[in-house]
Amino acid sequence: MNIRSIEIKVMEVSNLNELDFSDRDLLSSALQAASGAYAPYSHFQVGAAVRLSNGTVVTGNNQENAAYPSGLCAERTALFFAQSQYPNLAVVAIAITAISNGAQTSDPVYPCGACRQVMLEAQKRGGEPLRIVMGGSQKIYIVKRIEDLLPLAFV
Ligand code: THU
Repeated sequence: MNIRSIEIKVMEVSNLNELDFSDRDLLSSALQAASGAYAPYSHFQVGAAVRLSNGTVVTGNNQENAAYPSGLCAERTALFFAQSQYPNLAVVAIAITAISNGAQTSDPVYPCGACRQVMLEAQKRGGEPLRIVMGGSQKIYIVKRIEDLLPLAFV
Protein backbone atom coordinates (compact mmCIF):
# COMPACT_ATOMS: atom_id res chain seq x y z
CA MET A 1 0.00 0.00 0.00
CA ASN A 2 1.25 3.51 -0.80
CA ILE A 3 0.53 6.42 1.49
CA ARG A 4 0.08 9.65 -0.42
CA SER A 5 0.31 13.04 1.22
CA ILE A 6 -1.73 15.82 -0.29
CA GLU A 7 -0.46 19.31 0.25
CA ILE A 8 -2.92 22.12 0.75
CA LYS A 9 -1.85 25.73 1.17
CA VAL A 10 -3.57 28.10 3.58
CA MET A 11 -2.34 31.67 4.11
CA GLU A 12 -2.89 33.05 7.59
CA VAL A 13 -3.17 36.78 8.24
CA SER A 14 -3.63 38.25 11.70
CA ASN A 15 -3.67 41.91 10.78
CA LEU A 16 -6.23 43.41 8.39
CA ASN A 17 -3.53 45.78 7.11
CA GLU A 18 -1.61 42.82 5.71
CA LEU A 19 -4.50 42.09 3.34
CA ASP A 20 -4.65 43.21 -0.29
CA PHE A 21 -7.14 46.00 -0.75
CA SER A 22 -9.38 43.74 -2.84
CA ASP A 23 -9.54 41.04 -0.13
CA ARG A 24 -10.20 43.63 2.57
CA ASP A 25 -12.91 45.23 0.51
CA LEU A 26 -14.58 41.87 -0.20
CA LEU A 27 -14.43 40.93 3.48
CA SER A 28 -16.00 44.20 4.45
CA SER A 29 -18.88 43.52 2.00
CA ALA A 30 -19.27 40.06 3.54
CA LEU A 31 -19.48 41.55 7.04
CA GLN A 32 -22.10 44.02 5.91
CA ALA A 33 -24.06 41.16 4.30
CA ALA A 34 -23.84 39.13 7.53
CA SER A 35 -25.69 41.84 9.40
CA GLY A 36 -28.72 41.25 7.15
CA ALA A 37 -28.81 37.46 7.57
CA TYR A 38 -32.09 35.80 8.48
CA ALA A 39 -30.91 33.50 11.28
CA PRO A 40 -33.63 33.48 13.97
CA TYR A 41 -32.92 29.84 14.88
CA SER A 42 -29.13 29.63 15.14
CA HIS A 43 -28.50 33.35 15.80
CA PHE A 44 -25.32 32.80 13.77
CA GLN A 45 -25.28 35.33 10.96
CA VAL A 46 -23.03 34.54 8.04
CA GLY A 47 -22.22 36.83 5.12
CA ALA A 48 -20.57 36.03 1.82
CA ALA A 49 -19.36 38.38 -0.89
CA VAL A 50 -18.48 37.15 -4.35
CA ARG A 51 -16.27 38.99 -6.85
CA LEU A 52 -16.90 38.36 -10.53
CA SER A 53 -14.38 38.62 -13.36
CA ASN A 54 -15.56 42.12 -14.34
CA GLY A 55 -15.14 43.40 -10.77
CA THR A 56 -18.83 43.23 -9.84
CA VAL A 57 -19.44 42.20 -6.22
CA VAL A 58 -22.60 40.40 -5.15
CA THR A 59 -23.42 39.34 -1.62
CA GLY A 60 -25.56 36.81 0.20
CA ASN A 61 -26.28 35.71 3.74
CA ASN A 62 -27.71 32.67 5.47
CA GLN A 63 -31.45 32.23 5.18
CA GLU A 64 -33.00 29.95 7.77
CA ASN A 65 -36.43 28.36 7.92
CA ALA A 66 -38.59 26.72 10.58
CA ALA A 67 -38.26 23.57 8.47
CA TYR A 68 -34.49 23.57 9.09
CA PRO A 69 -33.15 21.84 5.96
CA SER A 70 -35.03 24.33 3.80
CA GLY A 71 -32.60 27.08 4.78
CA LEU A 72 -29.46 27.95 2.86
CA CYS A 73 -25.92 28.98 3.76
CA ALA A 74 -24.59 32.44 2.93
CA GLU A 75 -22.05 31.10 0.43
CA ARG A 76 -24.60 29.27 -1.69
CA THR A 77 -27.06 32.17 -1.48
CA ALA A 78 -24.36 34.46 -2.91
CA LEU A 79 -22.99 32.00 -5.47
CA PHE A 80 -26.38 30.98 -6.82
CA PHE A 81 -27.44 34.61 -7.03
CA ALA A 82 -24.23 35.43 -8.91
CA GLN A 83 -24.73 32.54 -11.32
CA SER A 84 -28.37 33.42 -11.89
CA GLN A 85 -27.70 37.11 -12.56
CA TYR A 86 -24.32 36.85 -14.33
CA PRO A 87 -24.23 33.40 -15.95
CA ASN A 88 -21.38 34.36 -18.28
CA LEU A 89 -18.99 35.81 -15.72
CA ALA A 90 -16.43 33.78 -13.78
CA VAL A 91 -16.47 33.93 -10.00
CA VAL A 92 -12.90 34.85 -9.02
CA ALA A 93 -13.13 35.31 -5.24
CA ILE A 94 -15.44 34.78 -2.30
CA ALA A 95 -15.11 36.22 1.21
CA ILE A 96 -16.96 34.76 4.19
CA THR A 97 -17.41 36.01 7.71
CA ALA A 98 -19.91 35.72 10.56
CA ILE A 99 -21.52 37.65 13.38
CA SER A 100 -22.34 35.91 16.65
CA ASN A 101 -23.54 37.53 19.88
CA GLY A 102 -23.54 40.92 18.20
CA ALA A 103 -19.93 40.90 16.99
CA GLN A 104 -17.82 39.46 14.22
CA THR A 105 -16.39 36.10 15.31
CA SER A 106 -12.72 36.29 16.21
CA ASP A 107 -11.88 33.10 14.32
CA PRO A 108 -12.57 32.67 10.61
CA VAL A 109 -15.72 30.87 9.53
CA TYR A 110 -15.09 27.91 7.25
CA PRO A 111 -17.55 26.83 4.58
CA CYS A 112 -19.52 23.60 5.03
CA GLY A 113 -19.00 20.62 2.74
CA ALA A 114 -22.01 21.36 0.54
CA CYS A 115 -20.81 24.93 -0.06
CA ARG A 116 -17.32 23.67 -0.92
CA GLN A 117 -18.84 21.40 -3.54
CA VAL A 118 -20.78 24.33 -5.02
CA MET A 119 -17.60 26.46 -5.00
CA LEU A 120 -15.79 23.71 -6.87
CA GLU A 121 -18.36 23.80 -9.63
CA ALA A 122 -18.36 27.61 -9.74
CA GLN A 123 -14.58 27.50 -10.19
CA LYS A 124 -14.90 24.84 -12.89
CA ARG A 125 -17.54 26.85 -14.76
CA GLY A 126 -15.48 30.03 -14.56
CA GLY A 127 -12.23 28.39 -15.58
CA GLU A 128 -10.26 30.54 -13.13
CA PRO A 129 -8.98 29.70 -9.64
CA LEU A 130 -11.48 30.71 -6.96
CA ARG A 131 -9.81 32.61 -4.12
CA ILE A 132 -11.49 32.04 -0.77
CA VAL A 133 -11.07 34.56 2.05
CA MET A 134 -12.32 33.32 5.42
CA GLY A 135 -12.41 36.16 7.88
CA GLY A 136 -12.55 36.58 11.63
CA SER A 137 -11.74 39.74 13.55
CA GLN A 138 -8.42 38.27 14.84
CA LYS A 139 -7.45 35.85 12.10
CA ILE A 140 -8.01 35.50 8.37
CA TYR A 141 -7.36 32.39 6.31
CA ILE A 142 -7.00 32.56 2.55
CA VAL A 143 -6.73 29.79 0.00
CA LYS A 144 -6.05 30.45 -3.66
CA ARG A 145 -8.27 27.73 -5.08
CA ILE A 146 -11.04 25.46 -3.89
CA GLU A 147 -8.89 22.31 -4.10
CA ASP A 148 -7.14 23.56 -0.96
CA LEU A 149 -10.45 23.20 0.93
CA LEU A 150 -11.75 20.18 -0.97
CA PRO A 151 -9.03 17.75 -1.98
CA LEU A 152 -10.01 14.51 -3.69
CA ALA A 153 -13.23 16.13 -4.87
CA PHE A 154 -16.03 14.60 -6.86
CA VAL A 155 -16.10 16.51 -10.15
N1 THU B 1 -23.79 28.70 7.80
C1 THU B 1 -23.46 29.43 6.69
O1 THU B 1 -24.26 30.22 6.18
N2 THU B 1 -22.23 29.26 6.16
C2 THU B 1 -21.25 28.50 6.73
O2 THU B 1 -20.14 28.45 6.21
C3 THU B 1 -21.52 27.74 7.95
C4 THU B 1 -22.92 27.75 8.41
C5 THU B 1 -25.10 28.93 8.42
C6 THU B 1 -26.08 27.82 8.33
C7 THU B 1 -27.00 28.14 9.49
O3 THU B 1 -27.96 29.12 9.06
C8 THU B 1 -26.09 28.81 10.50
O4 THU B 1 -24.92 29.20 9.78
C9 THU B 1 -25.70 27.94 11.67
O5 THU B 1 -25.15 26.77 11.26
